[in-house]
Amino acid sequence: MQNIISKIDKNARIAVLCGGMSSEADVSMRSGKNCFDALKRLGYKNAELIVVDENIAETLKEKQIEYAYIALHGKYGEDGCIQGLLEILKIPYTGCGVMASSICMNKEFTKRILANCPDIPLIKSVFVKKGENVKEKVKEKGLTYPLITKPVSEGSSFGMTKVNSEEELENAYNQALKYNNDVLIEEFVNGFFVTVGVLENDGVTFATEILQIMTKTEWYDFDAKYTKGLSEFILPAKISDEATKLIKDLAVKAHVTAGCSGVSRVDFMVDGETPHFLEINTSPGMTDTSDLPAQSLAIGIDYDTLVLLILNSCGLNK
Ligand SMILES: Nc1ncnc2c1ncn2[C@@H]1O[C@H](COP(=O)(O)OP(=O)(O)O)[C@@H](O)[C@H]1O
Ligand SMILES: [Mg+2]
Repeated sequence: MQNIISKIDKNARIAVLCGGMSSEADVSMRSGKNCFDALKRLGYKNAELIVVDENIAETLKEKQIEYAYIALHGKYGEDGCIQGLLEILKIPYTGCGVMASSICMNKEFTKRILANCPDIPLIKSVFVKKGENVKEKVKEKGLTYPLITKPVSEGSSFGMTKVNSEEELENAYNQALKYNNDVLIEEFVNGFFVTVGVLENDGVTFATEILQIMTKTEWYDFDAKYTKGLSEFILPAKISDEATKLIKDLAVKAHVTAGCSGVSRVDFMVDGETPHFLEINTSPGMTDTSDLPAQSLAIGIDYDTLVLLILNSCGLNK
């Protein structure tokens, strides 16, 4: 990786936005603190860590903030809401713009956009709204069991269930409805999970190394994500050079097709050597144990350089 040049003046008043009103507020606090510390080390002496609440617009105006570094995850922070507010305040911000943020927050709408790109392998699925006959919709679509039910816009595997037969479907659908009124039902891919970061520098969009996660549970559910010892991290992923290249290319393609900018992390299930697209995360975690810093380090981008790259993405989302 060549030397990354900072595009923003070292005296700029930068707000690192963290916390917020989502179920991932705690993770965001840790992401934000780490990014803030990195900005200080990089010489941004007027960087400030700001915990987001409903008075955020006034706070940003009072402090005459010039740039926003978004370290928020989930609802209001990753879904286009804070991005829209920053547009109105005319404060350039990091990462994806309003449109890509809101599209990628919704797993169904992401797939509808990516369906325009025939190279990206999408898992066969059906979209079921609250009140619809879930069994009928699954049958009409001709999905093959096992399936997986998911709320369209949650994270951390919340509200997701593996469904082995039609008898289990209604219950699983109702679990997902607790989170959203819209449910995405996909065929279950037997395989392993991989995730790959996408970054931009000087107009070039590129993938990080691929992280493979093997779980002791049947799939990468909430327990596996947050219980030590239930998952094993393999970096770089143990897959062929061809599959590695393909997954990296697909991640960049998905990022570009969904209109992302600056940074994202794209998830896939891999069956043998065949990748199947899962979702795009537009504000990936930046904690000590998060995926993106490890994936970036594996291609020679250390934490501070990663933060600088993300900071440089301010305004790319126009
Ligand atoms: N169609 C599928 N087949 C098999 N496993 C899946 C499928 N969809 C999701 N998973 C598993 O569930 C996990 C979370 O799914 P994902 O769609 O990425 O939602 P989240 O937003 O919670 O990360 C994935 O890491 C994967 O292990
Ligand atoms: Mg995911």
